[in-house]
Amino acid sequence: MKRILSILTAVSLGMGMLSAQNDIAKEVFDIKAGDLKLSLMVGSDNRLYQLHFGDADKKVNIPEKMPSRELEFLPPYGNGVITEPAIQATHTDGNTSTELHYVKRSTEKLSDDVQQTVISLQDPAYKFYVDIYVKCYEDAGMMEIWNTIRHDEKGGKVVLYRYASASPILKAPSYWLTQFNGRYKREATLEEERLGEGVKIIDSKLGIRAHQYRIPSFLVSYNHEAHENDGEVFAASLKWPGSFQMAFDMDWNKNLRVLTGINPLGAQYYLERGGTFTTPAILWTYSKNGKGETSRQFHRWAKDYVIRDPHKDRPVLLNNWEATHCDFDDNRLVSLFDGANRVGAELFLLDDGWFGNGEYSRDDDKHGLGDWEVSTKKLPRGLSYLTKEADKRKVGFGIWLEPEMVSPKSNLYNSHPEWIITQQKREPILGRHQEILDLTRPEVQDYEWNIIKNTLSPHPGISYVKWDCNRFVTQPGSTYLPQHEQSHLLIDYNNALYRLMDRFAKGYPDVMAMLCAGGSGRIDFGSMQYFHSFWPSDNTDPLGRIKIQWGFGHFFPASTMSAHVTRMGKRHLKLAIDVALSGAFGIDLALDKATQEERDQIADGVKLYKETIRPLVMEGELYRLVSPYENPLAAMSYVSRDKDSAVVYLYQTEDGQVPAVKLNGLDPEKQYTLTEVSLAKGMQPRIPTQVKSGKELMESGLGNPLSTQFDSAVLQLSAVK
Ligand code: DGJ
Repeated sequence: MKRILSILTAVSLGMGMLSAQNDIAKEVFDIKAGDLKLSLMVGSDNRLYQLHFGDADKKVNIPEKMPSRELEFLPPYGNGVITEPAIQATHTDGNTSTELHYVKRSTEKLSDDVQQTVISLQDPAYKFYVDIYVKCYEDAGMMEIWNTIRHDEKGGKVVLYRYASASPILKAPSYWLTQFNGRYKREATLEEERLGEGVKIIDSKLGIRAHQYRIPSFLVSYNHEAHENDGEVFAASLKWPGSFQMAFDMDWNKNLRVLTGINPLGAQYYLERGGTFTTPAILWTYSKNGKGETSRQFHRWAKDYVIRDPHKDRPVLLNNWEATHCDFDDNRLVSLFDGANRVGAELFLLDDGWFGNGEYSRDDDKHGLGDWEVSTKKLPRGLSYLTKEADKRKVGFGIWLEPEMVSPKSNLYNSHPEWIITQQKREPILGRHQEILDLTRPEVQDYEWNIIKNTLSPHPGISYVKWDCNRFVTQPGSTYLPQHEQSHLLIDYNNALYRLMDRFAKGYPDVMAMLCAGGSGRIDFGSMQYFHSFWPSDNTDPLGRIKIQWGFGHFFPASTMSAHVTRMGKRHLKLAIDVALSGAFGIDLALDKATQEERDQIADGVKLYKETIRPLVMEGELYRLVSPYENPLAAMSYVSRDKDSAVVYLYQTEDGQVPAVKLNGLDPEKQYTLTEVSLAKGMQPRIPTQVKSGKELMESGLGNPLSTQFDSAVLQLSAVK
């Protein structure tokens, strides 16, 4: 992307500027990203006030009198602000209050589509500075906001207690919050509630693999629950893999301030003179046409600016975890390569269990993490033998890594017990029988990089990595960090983690990668810039997956959601295939033990996916049609951008009938041939092949004959030329 280095100020451009019409406003200006507008005012008291955040078409009036302090855009603690503060610092002289005054701003055009504004604030009494960054992606309607905090105060360190990434104020008669919470095997479960006065907090305190119980993404809708195709909806997501806090503070005037950022719990930061603290960015988008549009905006933005190789087909892969766990040898793996080749899979992904030797052989989850030498017992001919055998069968080869962890039963732990995250005078608490390596420590940073390097560099046949992370923090302490900076651990860890991921992505640009954390315990757009897909859940029972993938789809595009056919739940194989067909398709079952009929059915699914459905999973736009959270049916579709083709998925999650499904996103003028695909051998289509106009399909809908739990149908739509 060509970076246009013209630095422009809004004043000189005359753009987005309202002239100050009275003596309370020194300056008023707008920042806009698609349909989302932020209007700010510099008051005659030099403070920065928010006038509006939301609909870009709304005319914003300059207030007649000075706004109250509750409307400061980035409220600092202690000198008159009485609501939740965004910034809280204790200065070197012990003063616990901060005052932030506007100094200047500049706008830089980073490309035709992207513009970045930096607003500089300073405490008039201290050399304490906050710069607010607002990066606007016009096409996707995405606003990315973060802050940097610096100081030049004499006499030591400033202590930062709060450092929100942003804290815009929403204004409506009433607000509904949608969060995506859950737990292991129930990730991203959608839950919606009406907000009342006071502070509602949704957060994570897990530090690392921090999103197990809640992802750092949410929706706020105005006046009613979030609808798919109408109503004002905001969608937001924090780029941070660690603990987060989202505070929804509704004041006595029904203003809703939304403070988002790193969870400040136990994480005060001692900022040295001249140092800079950078908050993670929060992404905001907005639509007047419901949450369907905010999801598509997130997907468009993610594909244009975040996800690695967004247009490169995600390979159909065969993963061995569900089939073998740690119990395999190279003959078994080679027989699985044969199976992969026969069903048309493009890559074999070797999961956990391939490393560790002697008493620390990784034969279960209690041993060997940290000892990344190939198991001589299971794989005596090494990884090169496997990559070559896979290649002979025209199957790529991928491998599982969990670089951040160590088993107490390992050589690594015996040599470096001080490398783990733990606290003095406390009994170490294990999680999945393992400890976390302290990534703030430079030797650990080198060690983890070497795990990646020593696995990939000698084996150029490895073209895929699954990066796992199977526990969270329970005792946040470091033997590396100084005594008074123990509270930096989780911030420094996660910044070091991003650096490691960045080094991996840059060092191995041709190696594709799946982000995993015991399911999706780590899922944020900061991490996703280093990955091609993520593993939404260890729950691969299609019935569970329908709701989990539905939740994630509110933010993450289908091409990033790994979805594998397994026998979990022992559902109909057709349902398992049909659910996997809606994501980055893969298989995780013992193909060598499956019946010929099952193998044939899977091979048909793979063929259908590669020939017809994958282009729509990769590039199509998501339209959610019938929610499984409210109905016995889940229905959704991906429509090509030219509206010439689409795929529709119908999954019956319970018994009951939804007689017609109204499609969406089609061209009303076009005629579409509609064909039921993904039919098991001998199965007659339940929905007859037919030609209908986009208008009819969207207005009257498609007759849905399904009514029995576990039934499913996949329909292909092609515009008649
Ligand atoms: C958790 C992951 O979610 C699984 O897919 C598998 O890779 C295991 N870890 C391996 O330990």
